[in-house]
Amino acid sequence: MKTSILTIMLTSASLCLANNPQLRADNIDEIIKNLTIEEKARLLVGRENSESDKGVPGAAGVTQDIPRLGIPSVVLTDGPAGVRISPTRKGDNATYYATGFPVGTALASTWNQELVENVGKAIGNETLEYGCDVLLAPGMNIHRTPLCGRNFEYYSEDPVVAGLIAAAYVNGVQSNKVGTSIKHFAVNSQETNRIEVDEIVSPRALREIYLRPFEISLRTSNPWTVMSSYNKLNGTWTQSSPELLKTILRDEWGYDGLVMTDWTNERRPSYERVAAGNALLTPGHDWQETDIIEHVKDGSLSMKDVDEQVKILLSMIVKTPRFNHYNFSNRPDLDAHAALTRQASTEGMVLLENRNNTLPLNKTGKVALFGKTSYDFIAGGTGSGNVNKPYVIDLKTGLTNAGFTIDPKLQDYYEAQKVLNDKIRAISGESSRYDEPAISRRNIEKLAADNDIAVITIGRQAGEGRDRDIDGDFNLTQNERELIENVAAAFHAVGKKLIVIMNMGNVMETASWKNIPDAILLAWQPGQEGGNSVADVLIGKESPSGKLTMTFPITISDIPAVNNFPTGTGPNNRRNGKNYDYSNHEEDIYVGYRYFTSFDKPVSYPFGYGLSYTEFKYSKPVVKATPDGFTASITVTNTGNREGKEAVQLYVSAPGKDMIKPARELKDFSKTSLLKPGQSETLTFTVSADDLASFNDEASQWQTEAGTYNIQFGASVDDIRAKAPYVQKKALTKKVNNVLSLKRELNTISPQ
Ligand code: BGC
Repeated sequence: MKTSILTIMLTSASLCLANNPQLRADNIDEIIKNLTIEEKARLLVGRENSESDKGVPGAAGVTQDIPRLGIPSVVLTDGPAGVRISPTRKGDNATYYATGFPVGTALASTWNQELVENVGKAIGNETLEYGCDVLLAPGMNIHRTPLCGRNFEYYSEDPVVAGLIAAAYVNGVQSNKVGTSIKHFAVNSQETNRIEVDEIVSPRALREIYLRPFEISLRTSNPWTVMSSYNKLNGTWTQSSPELLKTILRDEWGYDGLVMTDWTNERRPSYERVAAGNALLTPGHDWQETDIIEHVKDGSLSMKDVDEQVKILLSMIVKTPRFNHYNFSNRPDLDAHAALTRQASTEGMVLLENRNNTLPLNKTGKVALFGKTSYDFIAGGTGSGNVNKPYVIDLKTGLTNAGFTIDPKLQDYYEAQKVLNDKIRAISGESSRYDEPAISRRNIEKLAADNDIAVITIGRQAGEGRDRDIDGDFNLTQNERELIENVAAAFHAVGKKLIVIMNMGNVMETASWKNIPDAILLAWQPGQEGGNSVADVLIGKESPSGKLTMTFPITISDIPAVNNFPTGTGPNNRRNGKNYDYSNHEEDIYVGYRYFTSFDKPVSYPFGYGLSYTEFKYSKPVVKATPDGFTASITVTNTGNREGKEAVQLYVSAPGKDMIKPARELKDFSKTSLLKPGQSETLTFTVSADDLASFNDEASQWQTEAGTYNIQFGASVDDIRAKAPYVQKKALTKKVNNVLSLKRELNTISPQ
């Protein structure tokens, strides 16, 4: 009896399947014909992931399934510093930790696209093996100011660096046949009121600075998805902007992948966002499905628009591991990835100061290890960019592993402070930013007598939903300043040195104190192996080869955009005095080094800067015209006496007769492999005539002017080692659509 009921059930189930086509890569149009409008709406609206889901616990979201047509639900999980899922599951003793890799700024500072691709491969492998389909990364917004709370996830103030590093990351992740989502498209430059703020930007700054990295990454990689951002852009939410999501992204750039919205819970018209070109509304709510259905029924959303987006979504789904029944292991090779993150983070560290060759240390010894984050190292930022990693090697452990002895009394003191702080944190529920505990001068003098060297870590944490403050965050706190001054005085008095480690994902003020320590190493937020990576650099196991992908200004007010930033210095963006609901980009294209070089303003550390334990000589360059621009090459020789790598930056100064141009702009970069003393390597660069173009707002066209360009090969933007001319014979123009124009007047700055 039981058998026959089962047979009947199975037969009717297979009859039902037989009557319904099942999704395949080659029958998407047929599937669309079989979908009801309710089912189409269901597909276009995602769902939050929950433990009860078929999804992966802790992942950010899922798409909804239609079992009768063989359409599975696929899993979207956050990045970018690793796969963000829950490390433990109810009723399951196994753990699901993901490797905590260095944050975006640290990765970009390697200037090493191959290495970033390898990191991407490892993260993609964890995405796959943990049963996820799309990694919601990389984040690639431009660092408009150092105050944005999410800069750690992003790469640079320069569009070429951001675009090429993002492409390398995407190529690496997607080599595992899982997807990525380049985000947040576009101009998501601040966290304060990010869902309402209207970014007022000239089309020139938009095209040259804010859209450019996305355009570059789409040229050199093919991310499965793009995430439209929360903010408005010149009056329209980017999520509702066909000008951005269709005219530019698809018509001009030829993108045929999927656009999903960022996680928007506010009631915004869903039908409008589908019509604008989003195939997936996230996180997803019932009312959004109803909204889509009703607007199709009343004719304000066309079935053609709906079908177009459903087709894009299904085309993505058929590529996923979930659809292709990949048998994931939940066991990625975490040991191999730990070794990779250790290597990647050392390569991204930037040596800012090294007086009298303080580093590398030629012997281990007794260390007075100051600074609360020495014992509580910050591996990554907060918010959706945080990864649940198995452990974090703090600096105390890293130095101990390398053979140093940490002063036990100082260690006890800081660890007691940490326990106290954790208690306060547990009670207040806040991740309080407690100030650096004060230590008396007398105690510091004792520590100077007892130890061989002093190390101070200055730490900064930041993340999603909040921008950074100037006081106590961008600037040193009073306690930190006193600590640096007092430790330096006490240790220098007895002929011993002080090294400062900067443990943060972003820029901070350095000009007022950088001459006090003997060495400063910017370690960033270097991922779970951070303490070991720092130790590798301090003892010279690795020579630092990271360089800054953003400018370190002398003071925060030197950055013009700070005038129009919520946590900045000006009142300009506070409509009604409180809401921070718009931000004028008066600095226009003069973001980062484009401002400092064009307006001739001094900085603390320039874009592209970073010291090495060795030295490099640049040869005379060769620049050759090609039918489409030029190629350039230069030979770099290691003239010092240690191994090292050198990142070379190719800048261009345009004739600047037709349009006002920045003093110089980065067009390409390359990095040598590990060169032994005396060894050389020739690096090559390719620049097209289109890369030389600037955007003319009035004519809505890209213009490459004819004339002589000065090609410069820099160790940093302020350290040009070689130059050569390139003659662009013909002026070129390329008309594009006149879209995303300013709806109100914007007073922009100009060097002329
Ligand atoms: C963030 C995205 C993230 C998403 C899903 C949003 O709040 O802005 O970057 O991918 O949440 O967690």
